[in-house]
Amino acid sequence: MKSKSVSTQSRQLVSVELGDRSYPIHIGDDLLSDASLLEPHISGQQVCIITNDTVAPLYLETLSETLSAYKPINIILPDGEKYKTLDTVSLIYDRLLEERFSRSATLVALGGGVIGDMVGFAAATYQRGIDFIQVPTTLLSQVDSSVGGKTGVNRPLGKNMVGAFYQPNCVLADTSTLETLPDRELKAGLAEVIKYGLINNLPFLNWLDDSIENILARDKSALAYAICTSCEDKAAIVAEDEKEAGIRAILNLGHTFGHAIETAMGYGNWLHGEAVATGMVMAADLSCRLELISKQDFERVKDIIQRAQLPVSPPAEMSAETFISLMSRDKKAEQGRIKFILLEKLGKARAGEEIDQKTLASLF
Ligand code: NAD
Ligand code: GLY
Repeated sequence: MKSKSVSTQSRQLVSVELGDRSYPIHIGDDLLSDASLLEPHISGQQVCIITNDTVAPLYLETLSETLSAYKPINIILPDGEKYKTLDTVSLIYDRLLEERFSRSATLVALGGGVIGDMVGFAAATYQRGIDFIQVPTTLLSQVDSSVGGKTGVNRPLGKNMVGAFYQPNCVLADTSTLETLPDRELKAGLAEVIKYGLINNLPFLNWLDDSIENILARDKSALAYAICTSCEDKAAIVAEDEKEAGIRAILNLGHTFGHAIETAMGYGNWLHGEAVATGMVMAADLSCRLELISKQDFERVKDIIQRAQLPVSPPAEMSAETFISLMSRDKKAEQGRIKFILLEKLGKARAGEEIDQKTLASLF
C-alpha cells in the first residue's frame, strides 16, 4: 500500500493512482511559475483562478502570469472557515455563468483547504462537473486536503456535511508559499502530518519525534520530507479506497472529536488542525482506556502533539453531552451510533469502532 515518489533535484512527484483519473502531485519550491506543470491538465481555453483576499495579494499575480496563455479570470472570496458555505459556492457558480464558462473550463483553487474544498465542490457541480486543479498554499492543504477528492462545505449543524468525492486533475504544492504562512497555521498543518505517523507509518512517527522542532523552525528539507511522505501515504490509501468504504476512514483519526469542537466553538475559532490535534489525543486516550495501547504510548501521542505546540485538551466549555450530541451527527455515525477510529498500536489505526456512552463519558 505504498505510493512512491520520484525526485528530481528539489522536486518530488507523487502519483495518485486511480486508473484513467490518476493525477500527479508536484511538490517543490517555486512551482507556481512553472506553466509546464499545469498546461497538460488544462484541456479547454477557459480558466478561472479562485482564491481569497489573504492569498490573492501574495500569489495571484504569479499564477495568473503563469497561466497567461489562457487569459484567466479570477474570483477573490472572503477568507475564513465561516465562509465555507453554499452561499460562497453560489458566488462562484454565478460568476462562471456570467462569464459563460462551459463544460470544458478549468477551475484552479489557489489557497488552503477552505478554498480547495469549495472550489472542488463548485467544479464537481458546475454544469455537472468540470475540471479543476489544486494549488494548495498551507501545510495542511499540501499534506492532506488537496489530495484525495473530498470536496464540500459546512452547515451550521456539522462540518463538511454537504459535498462530493471529486478528484482534481493535478495538485501543485509549491513549498515556497509556506514562507508567508503564519506560525499558527503551520502548526495546525503539522497535526495532519503527525496523523500519518500515528495511523500507518511508525518509522515516520519516529522521524517526526526527532524532527518536530526542525519543522517548527521551517527547516526546508524537514518540511519537504514531511510533505512528500504525507502525500505518499495519503495517495496510497486513496488509491486503495477512494470513496471511504473501508481503510480510508483511518485518515479521520481524531476528526469525530475534532469536527464536534469546530462546530461547537464556531467555525474558524479553533483551526481544523488544532481541533484534530485534540481529537487525536482523545482518540488515543480512548484507545488506552480500551486497553488497545499502553499508557506509555498514550503519553507519547500527547507528547508529540504538545511538542508541535498544539492543544491536547478539549475546550473547557464543551460538556460530554455537547460532544456526544454533535458526534452522533458525524458522517461515520449510523442512526446516531457513533463510530470511532482507534489506535491498535502506534503506527496502526482501525476504523468503525462503536463505543458505549459510559466509556465515552469517562473521557471528560
Ligand atoms: P484555510 O484554508 O482556512 O487556510 C488557513 C489560513 O491561511 C487562511 O487565513 C488562509 O487565507 C491563509 N493562507 C493560505 N495560504 C497562505 C500562505 N501561503 N501564506 C499566508 N497565508 C495563507 O485552512 P487550512 O488549514 O488550509 O484548511 C482547513 C480546511 O481544510 C478545513 O475546512 C477542513 O475541513 C478542510 N480539510 C479538508 C480535507 C479534505 O480531504 N478535503 C482534509 C483536511 C482538511
Ligand atoms: N482528510 C480525510 C480524507 O481525505 O479522507
